[in-house]
Amino acid sequence: MKSAEVRRKYIEFFKKRGHVEIPSAPLVPENDPTTLFTSSGMQPLIPYLLGQPHPLGKRLVNSQKSFRSQDIEEVGNNRHTTFFEMLGNWSLGDYFKKEQLPWIFEFLTKELELPKGKLYVSVFEGTGDIPRDEESVRIWKNLDVPDERIFFYGVNKNWWSRSGEPEHMPPGEPGGPDSEVFYDFGEELKLHEKSPWKNEKCHPNCDCGRFMEIANSVFMQYQKQADGTLKELTQKNVDFGGGLERMVAATEDTSDVFTTDLFTSMYRYIEVLSGKRYGENQEETRAMRIIMDHIRAAVMMMADGVLPSNKMQGYVLRRLIRRALFYGRTLGLLKDWNYIGQLVEPIAQIYGNAYPEVVTKAGEITLLLDEEAMRFGRSLDKGLAEIEKLPKLDGKIAFQLYETYGFPWEMTEEIVRRNGQQINRAQFEAEFEKHKAVSRTAAAGMFKGGLADYSEETTKLHTAHHLLLASLQKVVDPNIKQRGSNITAERLRMDFNFARKLSDEEIKKVEVLVNQTIKENLSVTRVEMDCTDAEKIGAQMEFGHKYPDRVSIYFVGPQDKFFSAEFCGGPHVEHTGILGHFKIIKEESAGMGIRRIYAILEVA
Ligand code: ALA
Repeated sequence: MKSAEVRRKYIEFFKKRGHVEIPSAPLVPENDPTTLFTSSGMQPLIPYLLGQPHPLGKRLVNSQKSFRSQDIEEVGNNRHTTFFEMLGNWSLGDYFKKEQLPWIFEFLTKELELPKGKLYVSVFEGTGDIPRDEESVRIWKNLDVPDERIFFYGVNKNWWSRSGEPEHMPPGEPGGPDSEVFYDFGEELKLHEKSPWKNEKCHPNCDCGRFMEIANSVFMQYQKQADGTLKELTQKNVDFGGGLERMVAATEDTSDVFTTDLFTSMYRYIEVLSGKRYGENQEETRAMRIIMDHIRAAVMMMADGVLPSNKMQGYVLRRLIRRALFYGRTLGLLKDWNYIGQLVEPIAQIYGNAYPEVVTKAGEITLLLDEEAMRFGRSLDKGLAEIEKLPKLDGKIAFQLYETYGFPWEMTEEIVRRNGQQINRAQFEAEFEKHKAVSRTAAAGMFKGGLADYSEETTKLHTAHHLLLASLQKVVDPNIKQRGSNITAERLRMDFNFARKLSDEEIKKVEVLVNQTIKENLSVTRVEMDCTDAEKIGAQMEFGHKYPDRVSIYFVGPQDKFFSAEFCGGPHVEHTGILGHFKIIKEESAGMGIRRIYAILEVA
């Protein structure tokens, strides 16, 4: 089956069962500083899973663009991709297990026509006070799934939250047990025998490649507490996610997602360029998969406004492009740096209907890719010259080359072999691990107390953020729009379009206006309204965000004479009076035509 058909069937199936389709959120979450990328369909829905009413009701469905950077090293096998589309349906305190599992089974077996005999399921085996999920077992059995195809796993496999197992969940985070469906590609492929797990018994989660997870129904009914316990949420939710690529592969009974229509036009193109054939040689096939995955992810990111840089999302984007270029060498594509720009067209063709921004920005993205490729070409020359000067290369230096010039390990290794030197991979890995640990700590610090924790401090700063935007527009320029934001428990950060540095006087005036609004103790109210009405009254939108027909708007001040109105999911304080004293601590450039403000709230 073609990907567009699977996507459409899924959305229609759930629409028929009372669900409202919501648009895919952008790949870069605008108001969730806890993470760099949207990595699952539930991420933009957290406030609603926690109990806030959603403007479109209790049953939602969509296909969400998602990116998981932690999978980057795995790409190259038959089923891992960094970018993917997640088909999702949600019950926000409405239906639960006895509806969800039969629906998913019906969708897989009737709509996608997957043979029942090829489907295996997994169920939560229980932990501590949370019991084994007997209810799901009964439901699967009623659907004629036999005992030998029902498997039990613990928190490491059948518990889902954004942070994984209960132990790793931060306070406030929702999660719960889940039940997954796996597609069996059959013993005949002998995948298990060839895998590192060959001495263990094969089972759905053994990772040999015989089984592919295609559906995950999370029963999101718990929230982590500050004391480390799990408490039942007031509402029991369903959060379903299924990878579109994988579902399509299952309908075609192929264990290789890269042979589905989502990729075929890309690899044909690479075949023509390189003169190599997909599937013929293991190393070359792996290289083609990496190029396809990375460039597709890069294109989708750029369509959502990410630019290559050395920081945050831009750094991940740059890394993807460089890795793709490096693996192009395996295919003999060393000189033609600009070949990656030519892959934009097949990607735009496949995704144009579902995500029109890929088509409208195709020209711009092609130029950016070519420029980035040229930059890497130059970096490569510099790096090579650097290596020439070195008497001896070691793992540590290999890591520096990786950091400074974006040289993947494989590239340095290749050069050194050529020189007849030996290089220690373990040393490189050790440096890499050290670096990862440092950036994890930095990320934890940077994102600590982000909006998703709903602490009092972040909630206050979130409201102050709205006051700041409105004040900038009133005091400095009515054309100012927000271009990015990041809120921690300590401070807020806002990026906005403006061509020059703000004067000290302007900064002072903005502070005075925000503080005056705080003193007036204006009400902060959430109103649901039609998107078109919200646009008419001039409510502020998030840059690059597509909105559904019904939206949630936060007003500061009375609705007919508001100080600020913004498209926003919250959370916010109820009155501005409790915010304290607002202070801008820094104003700086954040790129061409973009300024950045950091501000704090002090006890008044
Ligand atoms: N949120 C769940 C997942 O990402 C459905 O697998």
